[in-house]
Amino acid sequence: MSDDNYFCSIMCPSSTSLKKIGLLSILMLIFIFGSAQKLVNFPKVGVKSIKNHSFSNYQQVKHYKMDVALTVDFEQQNLQGNITYHLKWNSVPNRIKTQHGKKMTPNTASILSTKIDENTVIFDTKGLIINRVIGQSGLLTWRYGDSNDILGKALEIEVPLRDTLIKIEYRTYNKQELKNRGNGFISAIQWLNPDQTHDKNFPFMFSQSQAILARTWIPCMDAPEVKFTYNACVFYPSNLNVVMSAQKFNSIPEFLQKYPSNAGEFQQFEKKLISGSKSPAKYKLAYFHQSLPITSYLMAIAVGDFKEKRLSTNCLIYAEPGLLEKAAWEFVDLPKMIDSASSLYGKYAWKEYNVLVLPPSFPFGGMENPVVTFATPTIITGDRSLVSLLAHELAHSWSGNLVTNATWDDFWLNEGFTVYFEGRIMEKLYGKDYAQMLAVLGMGELKKTLKDLMESAPADTRLKLDLKGRNPDDGLTDIAYEKGRFFLVWCEQMMGRKLFDQFLNQYFKKHAFGTTTTELFVRELTAFYDKNVKNGQLSKLDFHKNVKSWIYDIGFKEPKIVSAYLKESESLSAQLNSLDHQHMIFSDESGLKLKSITSSWTTHHFLHFLRNLDSLSFANMRFLDSIFHFSQTMNSEIAFDWCMLSIKSAYYPSYTSINEFLHRVGRRKFVFPIYESLIHEGQKRAQHWMRVQRKETFDLVKIPELKLALDSYESARAGYHSVTQNSIDGLFQLDQWTK
Ligand code: BES
Ligand code: ZN
Repeated sequence: MSDDNYFCSIMCPSSTSLKKIGLLSILMLIFIFGSAQKLVNFPKVGVKSIKNHSFSNYQQVKHYKMDVALTVDFEQQNLQGNITYHLKWNSVPNRIKTQHGKKMTPNTASILSTKIDENTVIFDTKGLIINRVIGQSGLLTWRYGDSNDILGKALEIEVPLRDTLIKIEYRTYNKQELKNRGNGFISAIQWLNPDQTHDKNFPFMFSQSQAILARTWIPCMDAPEVKFTYNACVFYPSNLNVVMSAQKFNSIPEFLQKYPSNAGEFQQFEKKLISGSKSPAKYKLAYFHQSLPITSYLMAIAVGDFKEKRLSTNCLIYAEPGLLEKAAWEFVDLPKMIDSASSLYGKYAWKEYNVLVLPPSFPFGGMENPVVTFATPTIITGDRSLVSLLAHELAHSWSGNLVTNATWDDFWLNEGFTVYFEGRIMEKLYGKDYAQMLAVLGMGELKKTLKDLMESAPADTRLKLDLKGRNPDDGLTDIAYEKGRFFLVWCEQMMGRKLFDQFLNQYFKKHAFGTTTTELFVRELTAFYDKNVKNGQLSKLDFHKNVKSWIYDIGFKEPKIVSAYLKESESLSAQLNSLDHQHMIFSDESGLKLKSITSSWTTHHFLHFLRNLDSLSFANMRFLDSIFHFSQTMNSEIAFDWCMLSIKSAYYPSYTSINEFLHRVGRRKFVFPIYESLIHEGQKRAQHWMRVQRKETFDLVKIPELKLALDSYESARAGYHSVTQNSIDGLFQLDQWTK
């Protein structure tokens, strides 16, 4: 019987066997085995075309500046605000300015303009409640246009007179409204209770707008090709702190000191916010100014009990008081990173480079929000071993924030460049061997991803993606990051570092504050190559052909790379694997040996060691844990690899610590693969059990992997950010989990 038929038969257990399994098991049968194919609910779109994951008509009109006024309401758990948009209309002649020679009133124009698209502005929204839209001469007519699960709802505003300033008054769903919508609603914003924070004293909220979630807290043209500057005024609880992806000022005079010619920027904000608030005394105001054009996915906000510690004139760390000293110690090299990055790629444009350490539910490792990178606390290990993540986010200040992928199909331009830059920064700071070690670890991850994708979605192993009709999140794989990096390393080898750096510098200078596509990059790269490289290493034709193959071919021709630094880890895992294959158990003596071999190991040695181990016997797993205490480590990267090895090895004594880990950390890169692996291994065990028992269904308690996945997720889910929830719900197909 094929596996498919087999699943089919266990989806319909007989009534007698049903009695033997609990409610949870029934849920399992329905949901787990229903997850064979991914359901993508993406209805066909109507009249308006969707371009680049946005409903907006930015080819026609763009917002080039926003004045944002927001109240952060922890009681309601929502944002209430108004935004003034500065619009630039394209030059299509405005046919309705006059009618029969007479100038029209906004009202008559409004009626006529329903058919005249040139005078409509379309924004992206998701989960927003629009109160009203006001133009320069009064209220404007608006309506919701097309909508779908992934992209949200188009907000169509008629602007008959092509006003250059329009204001939207709106709010995000509140706590109750969100609850009413049930699970499955994704928002950039996560609201945390005090017990979800490090210090456990105050609530916290933060945003994660990339890729297309800015629209869940700001009506906007949520497409990378629309760049804009912004001012913001935020009204927030006075016992907390606030940051945005912009320079912060505590008062208007403080702002005017720095920007004397910008008087008036914040004028209308203050009164409005204060008068609209229920309890102004408990709130205070902060002002933000982003003078450089950014794209919507870089809009960010966080409010919580965090303090700051300065590392240099243009760099400070924000963290909760109980974590601040540790964080500042961990990230002490940041100022040096900023200097070395600037020496490689040109002046740092964003004035300050700060890092905010978020609570552990932050779904990513880091997010390159301009002026203030958001970071997971899981990189604070006490040995500064995971700071390359900050080199990565810093590198985005050039690749991504200055020069941005034009579409999500070009995502590798953001991430591949950034991993390459990250490597260069790390090399400058810590030497070639260290950078090479990181590259070898990256290659290990890439090979795993490639193996999986070649089976499930080979087309997604291309650098240039095709994400039409899909969630751009699907492109968030090691292909963009690591294949992208190794392509650029290959380019560097072909041209020589000096020439390649010259190319990169001019490319970044030319496209700063703009966007680029893969095709444009290829055109400029090959033209540069043709002009400059005459060393006979590679013919013009070969270079062009190879570049195309890197970008458009599926799979990957693996370059051979080795790391002297990691050799020891590799040989030790090979040794242990072969011992295990021969059913041999480590002796005490080898325990001592193991301790001495690894006494000078860093986090990376352990990661490489664990990742190269096959599934091990119970005895050998127990032995490893007794020597290294992996189950108790607070180093999340090591803990994660140990969880994965434990699942692969069916080492049940680790299950308590896996459950704890799933509750302690919400970073998707960690928790998703753990659930995925538990379900995968559990499915295999269930099949085997039923085959042996000649049963059509199984008892959940007999399948520890599935039981752990279900039990953990049931209680941990509420603490995860909706981006993480959404990915894991997909594994269980559990949209209605807690209803
Ligand atoms: N910009 C990304 C995070 C991202 C990408 C969020 C796309 C949502 C959609 C960030 O720079 C990133 O790559 N973070 C990595 C860390 C990095 C060291 C590989 C992460 O979160 O793991
Ligand atoms: Zn990145």
